[in-house]
This record gives sequence, C-alpha cells and structure tokens, in this order.
Amino acid sequence: MTKNLDSCFKGKSVLVTGGMGFIGSNLAIRLARAGAKVTVLDSMITDYGGNEFNVSPVEDQIRINYCDIRDENAVNYLVRDQDYVFHLAGQVCHLMSLTNPFPDIAINITGTAIVMEALRKYNPEAIVVYTGTRGQYGSAVSFPVNEEAPTNPKGIYEISNLTAEKIIKVYNDVHQIRSVLLRLSNIYGPRSQMKHSRFGVCNWFIRLAMDNDMIQVFGDGSILRDFCYVDDTVEAILKSAVTQEAYGEIFNVGSDIPVSFLELVETIISVAKRGSWKFAEFSPERKAQEPGDFYSDISKIERIVGWRPTTTLEEGVGKTIEFYDKHRDHYWQANAKGAPASEPQKLGLGKN
Ligand SMILES: NC(=O)c1ccc[n+]([C@@H]2O[C@H](COP(=O)([O-])OP(=O)(O)OC[C@H]3O[C@@H](n4cnc5c(N)ncnc54)[C@H](O)[C@@H]3O)[C@@H](O)[C@H]2O)c1
Repeated sequence: MTKNLDSCFKGKSVLVTGGMGFIGSNLAIRLARAGAKVTVLDSMITDYGGNEFNVSPVEDQIRINYCDIRDENAVNYLVRDQDYVFHLAGQVCHLMSLTNPFPDIAINITGTAIVMEALRKYNPEAIVVYTGTRGQYGSAVSFPVNEEAPTNPKGIYEISNLTAEKIIKVYNDVHQIRSVLLRLSNIYGPRSQMKHSRFGVCNWFIRLAMDNDMIQVFGDGSILRDFCYVDDTVEAILKSAVTQEAYGEIFNVGSDIPVSFLELVETIISVAKRGSWKFAEFSPERKAQEPGDFYSDISKIERIVGWRPTTTLEEGVGKTIEFYDKHRDHYWQANAKGAPASEPQKLGLGKN
C-alpha cells in the first residue's frame, strides 16, 4: 500500500464481508496494517474459501464476527458506524451454482440486498465496494472486453453476481449510497483455498505443480485469460474506495496481458521447478459452459482510479509458491467433512 492509501484508511472503520476468505483476508490484512479499525464478517461455510489462518498475521488487530450476511439483525448491527463496507462474502463456485442455484440466490442476491438495506437504514454515509466477476459478461464479443460489453452470464453464480451488482447500483442511484462495482478477472495468490479444484484455477494448478503432479490442459491450451495477482487486486479495491469519481461506476479489474492456459501452466511449472502437464479432451459439459477467451480492458480503472497491476505472472506465481511452501499445513489439509485433501478431483480445471 502506498503512503497515500495508508493515510486514507488510518483510523477509519471498515467492514469486510467474507473477510476470512481469499481476497477478503488479504484486504483485511492490508487495511489493519494501514491502521484501519477492521471488522471481518464471515460465516465460514464448509468448502467455501474461509480459513482462520488467513488473518493470523493481524488476528490481534481485527474484530472477527462469525455470522452470515443473511442474518439481518447481525448485519444491521455490524454496518453501523463503518466508513467503508467491502462486500466480498459470497458463494463463489460456478460449478456448484449449476447443480444447486439456491445458495447463490440466497447468499449473493438476498444477502447483498440485506447488506444494502442495512446500510440504507442504519448507515447511508458508508462507501461500498463490491467485487463481482468477469463471468458476468459470459462469452466475449470483442477484445479486450470493456465495461460496455453485453452481459450474457453462463451460470447462476454469474447471474447472481450481476444481480447483486445491479441491486447495489440501485442503492447508489436511488438512495445515494456511494458504491464502486468491480468485475474481477481470474485472481490468484496467497490465502486462496487449495483443498479442491472447483474454483480458483490458477491456484489449483500451482498446488498440482507443488505436489509434483500432472496438470491437465483442456483442448489445445490456447484459451486466453488475464490473471491478476491478489495484492494488485487489493490495491484496486482500496484505490477505488477512495476515488470519488469512481462512485456509481463499474470497473474491470484484471490484466491487459492475456495469457493462454498453456503459457500459464508452463510458467507455473518453470517457477515451481516441479510438476508436469498433458493435454486432455474437454468433457461435453465442460465445453458447454466454457466461455472461451477472456481478457479485460482495464483502461477505465486506469484513467479514473489510477490503478494498474504491477506484478508479473512469474513474480506472482513465485510469491504464491513461497507462501504455500511455508504454510502448506494450513491449506492442504483434509476438508471440514474429513475427506482427504486429494480426494476431490485432483486433476482438472476449476473455475473463476
Ligand atoms: N477469486 C477470484 O478469482 C474471483 C473472481 C471474480 C470475483 N470474485 C469475487 O470476489 C469475492 C471474494 O472471492 P474469494 O475468491 O475471496 O472467495 P472465498 O470463497 O475465498 O471468500 C468468500 C468468503 O465469503 C464467506 N461467505 C460465503 N457465504 C457467506 C455468508 N452467507 N455469510 C458470510 N460469509 C460468507 C466465505 O466463508 C468465504 O470466507 C466473491 O464475491 C467472488 O465472487 C473472486
């Protein structure tokens, strides 16, 4: 965090929903180190990304409230007196949303409405940042994808994110609750769950390489994505929160350097000095929901917020491997239901 951002958040009260998860915990740590009074709200639902170890570097400096964003009374209480609300709690698994749409509807849509209603009633002065997904666009119609592109989501997860974004925009426009609406590309880095492959594809590939396993690259590996390191993502979230011109706006957060899955895998294996890869056929189901190439146009956030990522893929992968090499025990462990960590689809392509 730059000196300038430090001073913006020093002494401020901030609520991070989903703050025990991947991006939320990195954000909470940065905010605590900047001197903010941080409250984390998280329900720690099994198999989602929450992990108590994630916030261990600042556990004595932050307040953790284990509750669900669907608990209106708790949320009504927790939003009071906050200067900023970073809304990151959510069901984040595209695959799960295709077989059980109800958590997305309940958590991502109703839960977001509960957060916004609580703010309308008890703290309309707070500034909100929401992290939606590039999946809201669905298949891209032109490249790079800018914020004016049509939205044709390919799953309930993506629909729920788009709906949440629109709910927040209404509260911005009608109730003057200042909000920034971010659409994140593929984020990777320390503190992501590493127990299963269902979301967080880059991190999952990193785990496979670290375990010296085989990574399957679907199709010919030429599908493009823009991967963004989590520290850069946190910087985008914080910078947009303190930029008045950003309120009410939608911004892509990604990288303008597209990378193919094959290049990603080769980079990971080369940095990890472990692992191998092979081509694999798409299953018909996987093929049907694969949106194809995606890379973001980040010129709007660069122009208005002054943000662009600074971490190269090699650097980001290197830092991620260094973190998990040190803290493997906290991330490779059996999942909460007791299944061995290797059980859920050891090979394969997750989403996000
Ligand atoms: N990681 C990515 O690549 C990516 C990409 C696009 C968008 N996003 C969005 O960013 C946000 C954060 O994602 P993440 O990768 O950190 O996911 P994550 O799963 O690591 O973190 C989400 C956190 O929300 C918590 N949570 C879930 N439901 C909750 C509920 N009902 N009440 C309270 N807490 C709840 C979980 O316990 C978890 O700790 C999500 O909204 C996600 O859709 C992430």
